[in-house]
Amino acid sequence: MTLETTVNKSTVPAIDVVAMTGCLGAEIRGMDLSRHLGNDTFARILDVFHRHCVIFFRDQKLTPEQLAAFSARFGELDVHHMTEHTFPNLPQVRVLSNVKKDGKTIGITNGGMHWHSDLSYKPRPALATLLYAIECPPQGADTQFASMYEAYAALPETTRSKLRGLYTVHDRNYRYSALYPSRPPLTAEQIAKVPPVEHSLVRVHPVTGRPALFVAKDVVSHIIGMDQAGGRALIEELEAFSTQSRFIYSHKWRPGDVLVWDNRCTLHRATPYDPAYRRTLYRTQVKGDAPLPAN
Ligand code: SIN
Repeated sequence: MTLETTVNKSTVPAIDVVAMTGCLGAEIRGMDLSRHLGNDTFARILDVFHRHCVIFFRDQKLTPEQLAAFSARFGELDVHHMTEHTFPNLPQVRVLSNVKKDGKTIGITNGGMHWHSDLSYKPRPALATLLYAIECPPQGADTQFASMYEAYAALPETTRSKLRGLYTVHDRNYRYSALYPSRPPLTAEQIAKVPPVEHSLVRVHPVTGRPALFVAKDVVSHIIGMDQAGGRALIEELEAFSTQSRFIYSHKWRPGDVLVWDNRCTLHRATPYDPAYRRTLYRTQVKGDAPLPAN
């Protein structure tokens, strides 16, 4: 953990930043996200977001509307194609929860336990995702992030040059039933809403200009132009390489945490916990652009 205070170049107070690992994750201290932040302050937050890819704020007290308002500073908010478990009149905010009311869980339960980048199976995948913790188990249930910048940079140049120019197919339905055996399979209508999409295997971040791997074995079905077995072997090898502990930040949740991650340069996954504990988070997602291919 390293302390970093952004240089105060204007009349706006510097913000306190504590970096979590060399490559990923930073806590920003001293912010009350329920208040409107000035443009200079938000520009500093955005700068930390672009440098650290995953940022978080502790001890926040937000209404769903305030979470949506802060989230919208990062860009236009998405309404997920599966609209259950959203707030009435606020479909941008979804609930993740294992808590039951009248025999039904109040939110999405145990989603995202495989490595993925949000909505990568759409032509314009998510730019950022925000999670706000309402209640969480005292242990387990970390959300883990892998830096796809660092993973790409750590590959030998001979491998990187082979990967640049390759395209893959991201398919929501590819392993959906295997990942979620307790859920009904996607309906034909749901599948039709998210048909398989082609993306480059190495993408360039539109703000930082840095290249990042864009691959996850449970969402990417194959590599275009490669035979199925060879393509699968490469996809699985790249995910295993990218998710080594040296590329990972693991977030230990506390109630009141607001966490924001950049889907353009990270993978993430939820991890298990004892279901005897309650876990509820509110989630928003910021729309992104079509990924830029690396040449
Ligand atoms: C997700 O957004 O993929 C789930 C993250 C989590 O519940 O920890």
